[in-house]
Amino acid sequence: MSRAPTPHRVDVVVLGAGAAGMMAAIEAGRRGRKVLIIDHADEPGEKIRISGGGRCNFTNLGCSPKAFISDNPRFCISALTRYTQHDFIKKVDQHRIPWHEKTLGQLFCDGSAMEIIAMLREEMAEANVDLALETSIDAVEKTESGFALTLSGRAVTCKSLVVATGGKSIPKMGATGIGYDLARQFGLAIVEPRAGLVPLTFSPDLLHTLSPLAGIAADPAAVSSGKTRFEEAVLFTHRGLSGPAILQISSYWREGEAIEVALAPGTDVLGHMRKARSTYGRQAAQTALAEILPKRLAQVIVEDERITGNLADLSDKVLTKLADRVNAWKVVPNGSEGYRTAEVTLGGVDTRDLDQKTMEARSVPGLHFIGEVVDVTGWLGGYNFQWAWSSGWAAGQAV
Ligand code: FDA
Repeated sequence: MSRAPTPHRVDVVVLGAGAAGMMAAIEAGRRGRKVLIIDHADEPGEKIRISGGGRCNFTNLGCSPKAFISDNPRFCISALTRYTQHDFIKKVDQHRIPWHEKTLGQLFCDGSAMEIIAMLREEMAEANVDLALETSIDAVEKTESGFALTLSGRAVTCKSLVVATGGKSIPKMGATGIGYDLARQFGLAIVEPRAGLVPLTFSPDLLHTLSPLAGIAADPAAVSSGKTRFEEAVLFTHRGLSGPAILQISSYWREGEAIEVALAPGTDVLGHMRKARSTYGRQAAQTALAEILPKRLAQVIVEDERITGNLADLSDKVLTKLADRVNAWKVVPNGSEGYRTAEVTLGGVDTRDLDQKTMEARSVPGLHFIGEVVDVTGWLGGYNFQWAWSSGWAAGQAV
Protein backbone atom coordinates (compact mmCIF):
# COMPACT_ATOMS: atom_id res chain seq x y z
CA MET A 1 0.00 0.00 0.00
CA SER A 2 1.47 3.37 -0.97
CA ARG A 3 1.50 6.07 1.70
CA ALA A 4 0.93 9.77 1.08
CA PRO A 5 4.29 11.60 1.13
CA THR A 6 5.09 13.42 4.39
CA PRO A 7 4.08 17.04 4.02
CA HIS A 8 6.74 19.69 3.91
CA ARG A 9 6.54 21.47 7.29
CA VAL A 10 7.27 25.18 7.76
CA ASP A 11 6.29 27.76 10.37
CA VAL A 12 4.88 30.29 7.93
CA VAL A 13 3.55 30.16 4.38
CA VAL A 14 3.15 33.47 2.58
CA LEU A 15 0.86 33.35 -0.47
CA GLY A 16 1.95 35.99 -3.01
CA ALA A 17 5.48 37.32 -3.49
CA GLY A 18 4.50 40.94 -4.09
CA ALA A 19 5.46 43.96 -1.99
CA ALA A 20 3.45 42.98 1.10
CA GLY A 21 4.27 39.27 1.00
CA MET A 22 8.03 39.79 0.64
CA MET A 23 8.04 42.27 3.50
CA ALA A 24 6.18 39.86 5.80
CA ALA A 25 8.48 36.99 4.79
CA ILE A 26 11.63 39.02 5.56
CA GLU A 27 10.38 40.06 9.00
CA ALA A 28 9.19 36.57 9.93
CA GLY A 29 12.44 35.02 8.69
CA ARG A 30 14.47 37.50 10.73
CA ARG A 31 12.58 36.35 13.80
CA GLY A 32 13.82 32.82 13.18
CA ARG A 33 10.66 31.48 11.56
CA LYS A 34 10.99 28.94 8.79
CA VAL A 35 9.21 30.74 5.94
CA LEU A 36 8.03 29.58 2.52
CA ILE A 37 6.77 32.29 0.15
CA ILE A 38 5.10 31.25 -3.10
CA ASP A 39 3.84 32.95 -6.25
CA HIS A 40 2.39 31.69 -9.49
CA ALA A 41 4.46 34.22 -11.46
CA ASP A 42 7.96 33.37 -12.64
CA GLU A 43 9.47 36.40 -10.87
CA PRO A 44 8.59 38.06 -7.55
CA GLY A 45 7.32 41.65 -7.35
CA GLU A 46 6.02 42.04 -10.88
CA LYS A 47 3.95 45.09 -9.90
CA ILE A 48 6.96 46.69 -8.27
CA ARG A 49 8.81 46.23 -11.55
CA ILE A 50 6.21 48.12 -13.61
CA SER A 51 5.34 50.68 -10.93
CA GLY A 52 6.04 54.38 -11.18
CA GLY A 53 6.88 54.12 -14.89
CA GLY A 54 9.65 51.61 -14.04
CA ARG A 55 11.09 53.74 -11.23
CA CYS A 56 8.76 52.62 -8.40
CA ASN A 57 7.16 55.37 -6.35
CA PHE A 58 8.02 53.36 -3.23
CA THR A 59 6.59 55.63 -0.55
CA ASN A 60 5.40 59.16 0.21
CA LEU A 61 7.08 61.56 2.62
CA GLY A 62 3.68 62.85 3.73
CA CYS A 63 2.17 59.41 4.34
CA SER A 64 -0.60 59.59 6.93
CA PRO A 65 -3.84 57.67 7.53
CA LYS A 66 -5.90 60.40 5.87
CA ALA A 67 -4.50 59.32 2.50
CA PHE A 68 -6.23 55.93 2.76
CA ILE A 69 -9.77 54.83 1.90
CA SER A 70 -11.48 52.10 3.91
CA ASP A 71 -14.89 51.31 5.37
CA ASN A 72 -13.06 51.35 8.70
CA PRO A 73 -10.70 54.35 8.34
CA ARG A 74 -8.87 54.00 11.67
CA PHE A 75 -7.75 50.41 11.01
CA CYS A 76 -4.61 51.39 9.06
CA ILE A 77 -3.24 53.70 11.77
CA SER A 78 -1.51 51.01 13.84
CA ALA A 79 0.57 49.46 11.04
CA LEU A 80 1.33 52.82 9.37
CA THR A 81 2.64 54.33 12.60
CA ARG A 82 4.65 51.29 13.68
CA TYR A 83 6.40 50.88 10.32
CA THR A 84 6.55 54.29 8.67
CA GLN A 85 7.74 55.79 5.40
CA HIS A 86 10.94 56.78 7.26
CA ASP A 87 11.59 53.14 8.19
CA PHE A 88 11.30 52.14 4.55
CA ILE A 89 13.50 55.04 3.40
CA LYS A 90 16.13 53.85 5.90
CA LYS A 91 16.02 50.39 4.33
CA VAL A 92 16.43 51.87 0.84
CA ASP A 93 19.35 53.99 2.07
CA GLN A 94 21.03 50.98 3.72
CA HIS A 95 20.98 49.31 0.33
CA ARG A 96 22.45 52.48 -1.23
CA ILE A 97 19.59 52.83 -3.70
CA PRO A 98 19.56 56.44 -4.93
CA TRP A 99 16.14 58.13 -4.90
CA HIS A 100 14.54 61.52 -5.36
CA GLU A 101 11.32 63.32 -4.51
CA LYS A 102 9.40 63.95 -7.72
CA THR A 103 6.43 65.97 -6.52
CA LEU A 104 4.01 66.07 -3.57
CA GLY A 105 6.29 63.94 -1.35
CA GLN A 106 6.43 61.08 -3.89
CA LEU A 107 9.75 59.19 -3.67
CA PHE A 108 11.07 57.36 -6.74
CA CYS A 109 14.25 55.39 -7.48
CA ASP A 110 16.73 57.43 -9.53
CA GLY A 111 17.54 54.26 -11.44
CA SER A 112 15.12 51.36 -11.68
CA ALA A 113 12.33 49.66 -9.73
CA MET A 114 14.38 46.47 -10.14
CA GLU A 115 16.63 47.81 -7.38
CA ILE A 116 13.74 47.59 -4.90
CA ILE A 117 13.03 44.00 -5.98
CA ALA A 118 16.73 43.11 -5.68
CA MET A 119 16.78 44.65 -2.19
CA LEU A 120 13.80 42.56 -1.07
CA ARG A 121 15.22 39.38 -2.63
CA GLU A 122 18.55 39.97 -0.89
CA GLU A 123 16.84 40.48 2.48
CA MET A 124 14.71 37.36 1.96
CA ALA A 125 17.85 35.32 1.22
CA GLU A 126 19.56 36.73 4.34
CA ALA A 127 16.53 35.78 6.42
CA ASN A 128 16.61 32.22 4.95
CA VAL A 129 13.21 32.63 3.32
CA ASP A 130 12.41 29.91 0.81
CA LEU A 131 10.97 31.44 -2.39
CA ALA A 132 8.97 29.12 -4.67
CA LEU A 133 7.90 30.63 -8.01
CA GLU A 134 5.55 29.24 -10.66
CA THR A 135 3.63 27.63 -7.82
CA SER A 136 -0.14 27.33 -7.75
CA ILE A 137 -2.43 27.34 -4.73
CA ASP A 138 -4.50 24.16 -5.16
CA ALA A 139 -6.10 23.84 -1.70
CA VAL A 140 -5.99 25.43 1.76
CA GLU A 141 -7.49 23.73 4.83
CA LYS A 142 -7.49 24.59 8.52
CA THR A 143 -6.04 21.93 10.82
CA GLU A 144 -5.88 21.77 14.59
CA SER A 145 -2.34 23.11 14.71
CA GLY A 146 -2.41 25.41 11.69
CA PHE A 147 -3.01 24.93 7.99
CA ALA A 148 -2.58 22.18 5.40
CA LEU A 149 -1.98 23.38 1.87
CA THR A 150 -1.52 21.83 -1.52
CA LEU A 151 0.83 23.99 -3.56
CA SER A 152 1.46 22.84 -7.13
CA GLY A 153 0.49 19.35 -6.03
CA ARG A 154 2.85 19.37 -3.03
CA ALA A 155 1.53 19.00 0.54
CA VAL A 156 2.75 21.72 2.90
CA THR A 157 1.77 22.40 6.51
CA CYS A 158 2.30 25.58 8.50
CA LYS A 159 1.32 27.23 11.77
CA SER A 160 0.68 30.65 10.25
CA LEU A 161 -0.68 31.50 6.82
CA VAL A 162 -0.26 34.98 5.36
CA VAL A 163 -2.46 35.87 2.38
CA ALA A 164 -0.74 38.55 0.29
CA THR A 165 -2.19 37.84 -3.15
CA GLY A 166 -3.16 41.45 -3.90
CA GLY A 167 -6.31 42.71 -5.62
CA LYS A 168 -7.89 42.22 -9.03
CA SER A 169 -6.13 45.04 -10.85
CA ILE A 170 -4.34 44.17 -14.09
CA PRO A 171 -5.24 40.49 -14.54
CA LYS A 172 -2.68 40.39 -17.36
CA MET A 173 0.01 40.72 -14.68
CA GLY A 174 -1.22 37.74 -12.66
CA ALA A 175 -3.84 39.37 -10.44
CA THR A 176 -6.54 36.94 -9.30
CA GLY A 177 -9.36 37.13 -6.78
CA ILE A 178 -7.99 34.20 -4.78
CA GLY A 179 -7.42 36.29 -1.64
CA TYR A 180 -11.14 37.11 -1.50
CA ASP A 181 -12.04 33.44 -2.08
CA LEU A 182 -9.80 32.40 0.82
CA ALA A 183 -11.30 35.07 3.07
CA ARG A 184 -14.80 33.82 2.22
CA GLN A 185 -13.73 30.21 2.74
CA PHE A 186 -12.79 31.13 6.32
CA GLY A 187 -15.96 33.15 6.93
CA LEU A 188 -14.51 36.66 6.69
CA ALA A 189 -16.59 39.46 5.20
CA ILE A 190 -15.58 41.22 1.98
CA VAL A 191 -16.18 44.88 1.20
CA GLU A 192 -17.24 44.78 -2.47
CA PRO A 193 -14.05 45.17 -4.55
CA ARG A 194 -14.00 47.81 -7.31
CA ALA A 195 -11.39 49.39 -9.55
CA GLY A 196 -9.54 52.41 -8.14
CA LEU A 197 -6.92 54.86 -9.44
CA VAL A 198 -8.37 54.32 -12.89
CA PRO A 199 -9.20 56.53 -15.93
CA LEU A 200 -12.88 57.47 -16.30
CA THR A 201 -14.80 56.98 -19.53
CA PHE A 202 -17.48 59.01 -21.32
CA SER A 203 -20.55 58.07 -23.34
CA PRO A 204 -20.17 58.06 -27.15
CA ASP A 205 -22.16 61.35 -27.38
CA LEU A 206 -19.81 63.21 -25.09
CA LEU A 207 -16.77 61.62 -26.72
CA HIS A 208 -17.95 62.89 -30.08
CA THR A 209 -17.50 66.47 -28.78
CA LEU A 210 -14.39 65.88 -26.72
CA SER A 211 -12.39 63.39 -28.80
CA PRO A 212 -10.48 66.18 -30.64
CA LEU A 213 -8.96 66.97 -27.23
CA ALA A 214 -7.29 63.54 -26.80
CA GLY A 215 -3.74 64.09 -25.59
CA ILE A 216 -4.37 67.60 -24.21
CA ALA A 217 -3.72 68.24 -20.52
CA ALA A 218 -5.00 70.90 -18.14
CA ASP A 219 -2.29 71.29 -15.53
CA PRO A 220 -3.15 71.92 -12.83
CA ALA A 221 -6.86 71.21 -12.86
CA ALA A 222 -9.06 70.47 -9.86
CA VAL A 223 -11.51 67.59 -9.75
CA SER A 224 -14.13 67.03 -7.06
CA SER A 225 -16.54 64.29 -6.12
CA GLY A 226 -18.72 65.29 -3.19
CA LYS A 227 -16.46 66.92 -0.61
CA THR A 228 -13.27 65.33 -1.94
CA ARG A 229 -11.10 67.42 -4.22
CA PHE A 230 -7.71 66.90 -5.88
CA GLU A 231 -5.67 69.53 -7.65
CA GLU A 232 -3.30 67.92 -10.15
CA ALA A 233 -3.17 67.45 -13.92
CA VAL A 234 -6.13 66.18 -15.98
CA LEU A 235 -5.58 64.54 -19.35
CA PHE A 236 -8.19 64.16 -22.10
CA THR A 237 -8.04 60.68 -23.67
CA HIS A 238 -9.76 58.88 -26.55
CA ARG A 239 -12.08 57.25 -24.00
CA GLY A 240 -12.64 60.03 -21.44
CA LEU A 241 -10.40 61.56 -18.79
CA SER A 242 -7.21 60.46 -17.12
CA GLY A 243 -4.23 62.10 -15.39
CA PRO A 244 -3.41 62.11 -11.67
CA ALA A 245 -6.40 64.21 -10.52
CA ILE A 246 -8.82 61.87 -12.30
CA LEU A 247 -7.11 58.70 -11.01
CA GLN A 248 -7.34 60.11 -7.48
CA ILE A 249 -11.01 61.05 -7.74
CA SER A 250 -11.89 57.70 -9.38
CA SER A 251 -11.35 56.03 -5.99
CA TYR A 252 -14.14 58.19 -4.51
CA TRP A 253 -16.47 58.38 -7.51
CA ARG A 254 -19.48 56.05 -7.70
CA GLU A 255 -21.25 55.01 -10.86
CA GLY A 256 -24.02 57.44 -11.90
CA GLU A 257 -22.50 60.39 -10.01
CA ALA A 258 -21.16 63.58 -11.56
CA ILE A 259 -17.64 64.86 -11.01
CA GLU A 260 -16.88 68.57 -11.10
CA VAL A 261 -13.83 69.71 -13.02
CA ALA A 262 -12.12 73.10 -12.79
CA LEU A 263 -9.83 73.40 -15.81
CA ALA A 264 -8.23 76.64 -14.60
CA PRO A 265 -8.48 76.44 -10.80
CA GLY A 266 -7.72 79.67 -8.98
CA THR A 267 -8.36 81.76 -12.09
CA ASP A 268 -11.28 84.22 -12.12
CA VAL A 269 -12.46 83.21 -15.59
CA LEU A 270 -15.46 85.55 -15.63
CA GLY A 271 -13.27 88.49 -14.55
CA HIS A 272 -10.73 87.61 -17.25
CA MET A 273 -13.38 87.41 -19.98
CA ARG A 274 -15.06 90.67 -18.91
CA LYS A 275 -11.74 92.46 -18.90
CA ALA A 276 -10.97 91.07 -22.36
CA ARG A 277 -14.42 92.22 -23.55
CA SER A 278 -13.86 95.78 -22.34
CA THR A 279 -10.29 95.98 -23.68
CA TYR A 280 -10.46 93.92 -26.90
CA GLY A 281 -14.15 93.88 -27.82
CA ARG A 282 -13.44 92.65 -31.35
CA GLN A 283 -11.57 89.60 -30.17
CA ALA A 284 -13.18 86.14 -30.44
CA ALA A 285 -14.07 84.46 -27.12
CA GLN A 286 -11.76 81.52 -27.81
CA THR A 287 -8.78 83.87 -28.28
CA ALA A 288 -9.33 85.39 -24.83
CA LEU A 289 -9.96 81.98 -23.28
CA ALA A 290 -6.77 80.60 -24.86
CA GLU A 291 -4.82 82.97 -22.59
CA ILE A 292 -5.73 80.75 -19.65
CA LEU A 293 -6.32 77.33 -21.28
CA PRO A 294 -4.57 75.29 -23.99
CA LYS A 295 -5.68 76.74 -27.36
CA ARG A 296 -7.43 73.60 -28.61
CA LEU A 297 -9.30 73.20 -25.33
CA ALA A 298 -10.46 76.84 -25.43
CA GLN A 299 -11.68 76.33 -29.00
CA VAL A 300 -13.64 73.14 -28.26
CA ILE A 301 -15.30 74.67 -25.17
CA VAL A 302 -16.37 77.81 -27.04
CA GLU A 303 -17.70 75.74 -29.96
CA ASP A 304 -19.52 73.36 -27.64
CA GLU A 305 -21.14 76.31 -25.87
CA ARG A 306 -22.19 77.54 -29.34
CA ILE A 307 -20.64 80.94 -28.75
CA THR A 308 -20.06 82.96 -31.91
CA GLY A 309 -19.28 86.59 -32.71
CA ASN A 310 -17.01 89.09 -30.97
CA LEU A 311 -16.55 89.43 -27.23
CA ALA A 312 -18.36 92.77 -27.39
CA ASP A 313 -21.51 90.90 -28.48
CA LEU A 314 -21.49 88.56 -25.49
CA SER A 315 -23.66 89.27 -22.46
CA ASP A 316 -22.63 88.72 -18.84
CA LYS A 317 -24.98 85.74 -18.82
CA VAL A 318 -23.12 84.08 -21.69
CA LEU A 319 -19.72 84.82 -20.12
CA THR A 320 -20.91 83.43 -16.76
CA LYS A 321 -22.04 80.22 -18.46
CA LEU A 322 -18.68 79.98 -20.21
CA ALA A 323 -16.79 80.60 -16.94
CA ASP A 324 -18.82 77.86 -15.24
CA ARG A 325 -18.06 75.50 -18.07
CA VAL A 326 -14.36 76.12 -17.46
CA ASN A 327 -14.26 76.01 -13.68
CA ALA A 328 -17.43 74.22 -12.60
CA TRP A 329 -17.79 71.66 -15.38
CA LYS A 330 -20.13 68.95 -14.13
CA VAL A 331 -19.80 65.77 -16.10
CA VAL A 332 -21.12 62.26 -15.50
CA PRO A 333 -18.64 59.58 -16.58
CA ASN A 334 -20.36 56.45 -17.91
CA GLY A 335 -17.83 54.18 -16.23
CA SER A 336 -14.15 53.54 -15.72
CA GLU A 337 -11.57 51.57 -17.67
CA GLY A 338 -11.95 48.87 -14.98
CA TYR A 339 -9.45 46.37 -13.66
CA ARG A 340 -7.66 46.26 -17.03
CA THR A 341 -5.85 49.52 -16.24
CA ALA A 342 -6.71 50.24 -12.57
CA GLU A 343 -3.65 50.71 -10.34
CA VAL A 344 -5.46 49.33 -7.31
CA THR A 345 -8.52 47.48 -6.11
CA LEU A 346 -10.67 49.26 -3.56
CA GLY A 347 -12.54 47.18 -0.99
CA GLY A 348 -11.37 43.72 -0.02
CA VAL A 349 -11.16 41.79 3.24
CA ASP A 350 -13.29 43.66 5.78
CA THR A 351 -10.89 45.07 8.36
CA ARG A 352 -13.50 44.67 11.11
CA ASP A 353 -12.68 40.96 10.86
CA LEU A 354 -8.92 41.57 11.31
CA ASP A 355 -6.72 42.60 14.24
CA GLN A 356 -5.13 45.96 13.36
CA LYS A 357 -1.86 45.14 15.13
CA THR A 358 -1.20 41.70 13.67
CA MET A 359 -3.47 41.63 10.58
CA GLU A 360 -4.72 38.29 11.90
CA ALA A 361 -8.31 37.15 11.29
CA ARG A 362 -10.18 37.51 14.58
CA SER A 363 -12.04 34.24 14.09
CA VAL A 364 -9.19 32.17 12.57
CA PRO A 365 -6.00 32.15 14.66
CA GLY A 366 -2.89 32.02 12.49
CA LEU A 367 -4.54 33.42 9.33
CA HIS A 368 -3.30 36.88 8.28
CA PHE A 369 -4.25 39.17 5.37
CA ILE A 370 -1.95 41.98 4.22
CA GLY A 371 -1.48 44.49 1.41
CA GLU A 372 -3.99 45.24 -1.31
CA VAL A 373 -6.29 42.27 -0.60
CA VAL A 374 -7.35 44.14 2.55
CA ASP A 375 -9.94 46.95 2.47
CA VAL A 376 -7.32 49.70 2.79
CA THR A 377 -6.49 51.66 -0.37
CA GLY A 378 -4.13 54.59 -0.65
CA TRP A 379 -4.10 57.65 -2.84
CA LEU A 380 -1.86 57.80 -5.88
CA GLY A 381 1.71 58.71 -4.92
CA GLY A 382 3.47 55.84 -3.12
CA TYR A 383 0.80 55.31 -0.47
CA ASN A 384 -0.19 51.85 -1.66
CA PHE A 385 3.32 50.51 -1.44
CA GLN A 386 3.66 52.04 2.03
CA TRP A 387 0.53 50.13 3.07
CA ALA A 388 2.07 46.94 1.64
CA TRP A 389 5.33 47.53 3.59
CA SER A 390 3.56 48.51 6.84
CA SER A 391 0.93 45.77 6.85
CA GLY A 392 3.52 43.19 5.75
CA TRP A 393 5.85 44.29 8.53
CA ALA A 394 3.03 44.08 11.11
CA ALA A 395 2.14 40.51 10.13
CA GLY A 396 5.84 39.60 10.02
CA GLN A 397 6.17 40.54 13.72
CA ALA A 398 3.22 38.38 14.71
CA VAL A 399 3.49 35.08 12.80
P1 FDA B 1 0.76 42.51 -5.39
O1 FDA B 1 -0.28 42.54 -6.43
O2 FDA B 1 1.96 43.35 -5.56
O3 FDA B 1 1.28 41.01 -5.15
C1 FDA B 1 0.40 39.92 -5.13
C2 FDA B 1 1.15 38.72 -5.62
O4 FDA B 1 0.30 37.57 -5.50
C3 FDA B 1 1.56 38.81 -7.08
O5 FDA B 1 2.94 38.59 -7.19
C4 FDA B 1 0.72 37.75 -7.77
O6 FDA B 1 1.42 37.11 -8.84
C5 FDA B 1 0.45 36.78 -6.64
N1 FDA B 1 -0.78 36.01 -6.84
C6 FDA B 1 -2.02 36.48 -7.10
N2 FDA B 1 -2.88 35.48 -7.25
C7 FDA B 1 -2.17 34.33 -7.07
C8 FDA B 1 -2.52 32.95 -7.13
N3 FDA B 1 -3.77 32.55 -7.40
N4 FDA B 1 -1.55 32.04 -6.91
C9 FDA B 1 -0.28 32.43 -6.65
N5 FDA B 1 0.12 33.72 -6.58
C10 FDA B 1 -0.83 34.66 -6.80
N6 FDA B 1 1.69 51.85 -5.79
C11 FDA B 1 2.55 52.74 -5.26
O7 FDA B 1 2.55 52.94 -4.04
N7 FDA B 1 3.45 53.39 -6.07
C12 FDA B 1 3.52 53.18 -7.42
O8 FDA B 1 4.38 53.72 -8.10
C13 FDA B 1 2.57 52.29 -7.98
N8 FDA B 1 2.52 52.08 -9.33
C14 FDA B 1 1.67 51.17 -9.87
C15 FDA B 1 1.64 50.97 -11.24
C16 FDA B 1 0.78 50.03 -11.79
C17 FDA B 1 0.71 49.85 -13.29
C18 FDA B 1 -0.06 49.25 -10.93
C19 FDA B 1 -0.97 48.20 -11.48
C20 FDA B 1 -0.04 49.45 -9.57
C21 FDA B 1 0.81 50.42 -9.02
N9 FDA B 1 0.82 50.67 -7.63
C22 FDA B 1 1.70 51.59 -7.13
C23 FDA B 1 0.00 49.87 -6.70
C24 FDA B 1 0.87 48.76 -6.10
O9 FDA B 1 1.51 48.06 -7.14
C25 FDA B 1 0.04 47.80 -5.26
O10 FDA B 1 -0.73 48.51 -4.33
C26 FDA B 1 0.95 46.82 -4.54
O11 FDA B 1 1.69 46.08 -5.47
C27 FDA B 1 0.15 45.87 -3.66
O12 FDA B 1 1.04 44.95 -3.08
P2 FDA B 1 0.57 43.49 -2.67
O13 FDA B 1 1.81 42.79 -2.26
O14 FDA B 1 -0.57 43.57 -1.75
O15 FDA B 1 -0.01 42.86 -4.02
